[in-house]
Amino acid sequence: MKMLVKEVPIKDINEVIDLFDYCINNANGLASPYDDGEIENYLKTKRLYGAYYYEKLIGVGALLDINYDPIPIEKVFLRIIHKKTAMLVRYFVYPKYRNLGVMTKIQDRLINLANQFKYEVVIANAFSHNIASIKVIEKRLKLSYNLNVLGDDTLIFMLDLE
Ligand SMILES: CC(C)(COP(=O)(O)OP(=O)(O)OC[C@H]1O[C@@H](n2cnc3c(N)ncnc32)[C@H](O)[C@@H]1OP(=O)(O)O)[C@@H](O)C(=O)NCCC(=O)NCCS
Repeated sequence: MKMLVKEVPIKDINEVIDLFDYCINNANGLASPYDDGEIENYLKTKRLYGAYYYEKLIGVGALLDINYDPIPIEKVFLRIIHKKTAMLVRYFVYPKYRNLGVMTKIQDRLINLANQFKYEVVIANAFSHNIASIKVIEKRLKLSYNLNVLGDDTLIFMLDLE
């Protein structure tokens, strides 16, 4: 499919909000709600990449810095608390465009970005029943931990960039 993957400019914020809203409201709890300012923050820090099909934003993913206090539990379980780590988050594609490789392409761009930003490790989470998400993530990251929180299995994947 002919598409362009690029950093999403701030002017496209409303299209990003529409995509987040659509996917979160239709993901049967597989994606958590977003905080005030979250989307704007990704855009301002140039950490949100999107796929465009004839100018229409059809998919997004973001690179989240997780080197803050308190230390995120993923870093503790993976024993990487001292490593500069980024997390791949907010994988959303409109249903019509799924299973065509859109998120695979966005994910590769985000991993390149993590390299540019000199992260040492990239991680990603997926619920164990979110098959599509797992299939994309495991193309580049290795399953490294199975976290059981409140009965929901969360799989944690990791890629060493060093
Ligand atoms: C997860 C999501 C972003 C993936 O985007 P996508 O563009 O469809 O991903 P890709 O096409 O690059 O890859 C999907 C892979 O999963 C595979 N897949 C999807 N559903 C599958 C299933 N039920 N069984 C087996 N494989 C499956 C596809 O075949 C594809 O693998 P392939 O490239 O080897 O053929 C998309 O499904 C989505 O938006 N889901 C809803 C929101 C969500 O749950 N996001 C993640 C949590 S934040």
